Amino acid sequence: MESILNIRNVSKIYQSAGRELTVLDNINFSITAGSTVAITGPSGSGKTTLLGLCAGLDRASSGTVELNGIALEKLNEDERAAIRNQYVGFIFQNFQLLPTLTALENVMVPLELRGAKNIRAHALELLDKVGLADRSHHYPVQLSGGEQQRVSLARAFSNQPAILFADEPTGNLDAETSEKVIKLLFDLNKDAGTTLIIVTHDLELAARTARSIKIKGGVIISDENPTYA
Ligand SMILES: Nc1ncnc2c1ncn2[C@@H]1O[C@H](COP(=O)(O)OP(=O)(O)OP(=O)(O)O)[C@@H](O)[C@H]1O
Ligand SMILES: [Mg+2]
Repeated sequence: MESILNIRNVSKIYQSAGRELTVLDNINFSITAGSTVAITGPSGSGKTTLLGLCAGLDRASSGTVELNGIALEKLNEDERAAIRNQYVGFIFQNFQLLPTLTALENVMVPLELRGAKNIRAHALELLDKVGLADRSHHYPVQLSGGEQQRVSLARAFSNQPAILFADEPTGNLDAETSEKVIKLLFDLNKDAGTTLIIVTHDLELAARTARSIKIKGGVIISDENPTYA
């Protein structure tokens, strides 16, 4: 089966207070296009760092990250941004909404970058899907944590990504809203064939993905149902 993501011998080393800190140590896996994967592990184990490397938001210290057949380490920042806009949706652990834009405008950004049509109507539709049609003109500071998380979700969906990275997408949501958001994620996988890579502490959510990768101290300690390309 076709793989959408190939990670080979990836390490990430930070220089911190004059010494080297190995946050990811020789990580290897391949992800089949259209599959669903949970990444779990304790706080500080490197999950967010790994997601950032896979999505081309950050660069590995060594190794290769191949997204849709494109080796990200060979690209400059602008080229990586273009690849992200074309293929990737990202839901950040800390949302990362633009503070000077309203909820609606935040969702519109990726659509504008793509030069899409009917941007406002489409963005409103996405906000409605996450239950925020009546908050579209609120700025991020005027939204609760869970509401910001849902705007971030709507934004990540907007360019119908081939691959969606979600960092704790239900971390700030109540049970009912969490269930709605999970349904949206899996519907996107089912209807649009979007590959889902979800970092989560929520065991119920992790249990719903086809594959589960556990990391600890920057190394993979288990990989259930791996599919190597
Ligand atoms: N820019 C940086 N410089 C130095 N160390 C960093 C940097 N970013 C992250 N780290 C360290 O890398 C380790 C992994 O961080 P990461 O955010 O990937 O963990 P995580 O698994 O996502 O944790 P959590 O579940 O708490 O979100 C942490 O120990 C963190 O302190
Ligand atoms: Mg994290």
